[in-house]
Amino acid sequence: MTSPLLVAMPGNERLAMELAEAVGFELGGLETRQFPDGETYLRFVTTPKGRSVAIICTLAHPNEKILPLIFSAATARELGASKVGLISPYLAYMRQDRRFKPGEAVTSRQVAHLLSDAFDWLITVDPHLHRYGSLSEIYRIPTRVVHAAPLISQWVKSKVTNPLIIGPDSESEQWVAAVAKDAGAPFSVLEKVRRGDRDVEIKLKNLDAWTGRTPVLVDDIISTGRTMIEAVRLLKSHGWAPPVCIAVHGLFADNSDVFLAQLGAQVVTSNSVPHGTNDIGVGKMLAGALSEFSTISS
Ligand code: R5P
Repeated sequence: MTSPLLVAMPGNERLAMELAEAVGFELGGLETRQFPDGETYLRFVTTPKGRSVAIICTLAHPNEKILPLIFSAATARELGASKVGLISPYLAYMRQDRRFKPGEAVTSRQVAHLLSDAFDWLITVDPHLHRYGSLSEIYRIPTRVVHAAPLISQWVKSKVTNPLIIGPDSESEQWVAAVAKDAGAPFSVLEKVRRGDRDVEIKLKNLDAWTGRTPVLVDDIISTGRTMIEAVRLLKSHGWAPPVCIAVHGLFADNSDVFLAQLGAQVVTSNSVPHGTNDIGVGKMLAGALSEFSTISS
């Protein structure tokens, strides 16, 4: 039987190689480029005919990635793939999960519809589930979620002495509590009010009981960085050492990685989005999920 094919969209080659080796998929070739007018050219170099195909594409900067991704899935099917699955280490468009103002697009649902139409299954890492209980509320295809919390705990255990795990807002409590438990460390969750994309206020709780510990901020996403930046400033103004800032997904809009570094914070992310701050590898966990999926991906 021909082995399943793993195909990397541009920028996903490293994780694709690691996964293909771990699960015994053949690494397929995909030629892509932009025509001078910005349209996408795409060609499968390895034939998907009669094979199960997994396409890996992390979705930071999603608008430029989603259309080529959908073209790839559709082309794989046209060329005879038996199944086409998506590994998206960072799943974008999860935060607009409600119509906050009349007339707004609930883009989380719309992207879920697009991807559910294009793919047979989906694997991702810690999607931003706030008002949705699970991906199945919006995705019509089978999904598997890989949780980075155990990897973050391991990282903290091996690299931080005497940590205090801190979540910048109530939404982060789910990650923070799990990380703290595994790392055998205390945790606290701050209060955040977001007034706009770049307008965030954070209130510090009384952390006196943990004076002397190393503050470790943990969140799922760093986007504009306002959340982390405000938390770092507040902690420092209360006499704490510059914290370690850990996020599963580092998007770093507005050069927020640079601002955090200027504040003296050590920034660490998982490789769900390739970046210089990557020090937590999700490859093994993704490979585990991909192997478990082999029954439906064949
Ligand atoms: C909140 O919804 C998320 O968990 C993150 O706290 C948020 O996405 C971070 O965004 P930013 O870096 O723009 O403050």
